[in-house]
Amino acid sequence: MILKSIILTNYRNYPTCTIQGFKKVNLFLGKNGSGKTNLLDSIYYTALGKSYFSSKDSDIMKWGEEFFRVESRIEKATQKFKIEHAVIPSKKKETKINGKAIEKLSQLLGQFPAVAIAPKEVYTLLSASQERRKACDRVIAQFDKQYTAALILYNSLLKRRNQLLKDSKSMSDLNIELIKVIDKQMDAPAKTIYQTRLKFAENIRQEFRENYKTISNEQEEADLFYQSSLETGNLSDQLYKCLESDFYKKRTTVGIHKDDYVFRINDKHLNTFASQGQLKSFIISFKLSLFRILCNNSSHLPFLILDDIFDKIDSSRTTALLNLLSKGDFGQIFISDADKNRLPEILKKNDLEFFGVIIESGNIETQ
Ligand SMILES: Nc1ncnc2c1ncn2[C@@H]1O[C@H](COP(=O)(O)OP(=O)(O)OP(=O)(O)O)[C@@H](O)[C@H]1O
Ligand SMILES: [Mg+2]
Repeated sequence: MILKSIILTNYRNYPTCTIQGFKKVNLFLGKNGSGKTNLLDSIYYTALGKSYFSSKDSDIMKWGEEFFRVESRIEKATQKFKIEHAVIPSKKKETKINGKAIEKLSQLLGQFPAVAIAPKEVYTLLSASQERRKACDRVIAQFDKQYTAALILYNSLLKRRNQLLKDSKSMSDLNIELIKVIDKQMDAPAKTIYQTRLKFAENIRQEFRENYKTISNEQEEADLFYQSSLETGNLSDQLYKCLESDFYKKRTTVGIHKDDYVFRINDKHLNTFASQGQLKSFIISFKLSLFRILCNNSSHLPFLILDDIFDKIDSSRTTALLNLLSKGDFGQIFISDADKNRLPEILKKNDLEFFGVIIESGNIETQ
């Protein structure tokens, strides 16, 4: 899958912007605040119809404007696609593929797969299990519709259960029979989610360990485990046991919304023992393993969007990583860096081809 061109109108700091000539490895280079992340985000927006960096479309629209638009051309083997997203905040967002409007954004899922890494994820993925689940869910959702449906159902039941807990003033006030019905209804989606995550974690673990070894030049061993309360039995029994404490806490304290993917390095907890460069290498390896699983479940190689990942990574790890990305089994890659020279120099030295986009306060030059 190859992005051929992109045309932006009122996208963040770009009133208009056209880029064509993308290759396998694409670099977006410029000073802080010049607009690198915004361009990477527009590529993610092309593929999935939403921003990676912001949850609201209104944040994307250039300040003071009334609409924004992203138009892209993508080729998949012999097939050619024109993808258009047009957003006018007061109206319904319009997405067209080859001129034909799609009804729901979810119809895009699986068509143009993409994985991104945002700089702040180095911290959020390490500190919050919710972020680790979200990162995995974002990828699974791109190829497993049954999983996505189970997650939507589970979350709506969880919301209802939490509301009942919040609305009751005392234990005797609580509609226990209704809660028991909801708990039973949660069993089936929880099981689907648990089984999918278990298999998914097994698959990424292998990939992840290998990626980390390559990036760290075989210096450390990293590992990843999936933890879920469903390991110890079905959910409704556990929910029932926790009902009283859930009532006092006013929220559901057990279930797959508490699952975790636990990171380890050299058999120790990562957060306490790893250096900043090691943490970053770790997160990159994790994301690359997510990419690989998405690859294995897609008919075309996904876009890989790497925002600012080379900061704090030494030159031997950078070279190892660039070699892995350029030569290995990766598709089109989009990388941003605030240092104009570092990545081009390493790529040239290693005879690796690239397309460069130099950005200066929103103005673009390509090479
Ligand atoms: N909706 C918007 N309208 C206009 N400008 C915006 C909007 N959202 C963000 N910007 C501006 O876009 C500029 C470029 O941001 P971007 O995050 O792409 O920079 P960057 O090159 O990635 O910088 P860094 O190297 O610090 O990560 C910023 O100055 C920001 O204030
Ligand atoms: Mg940035």
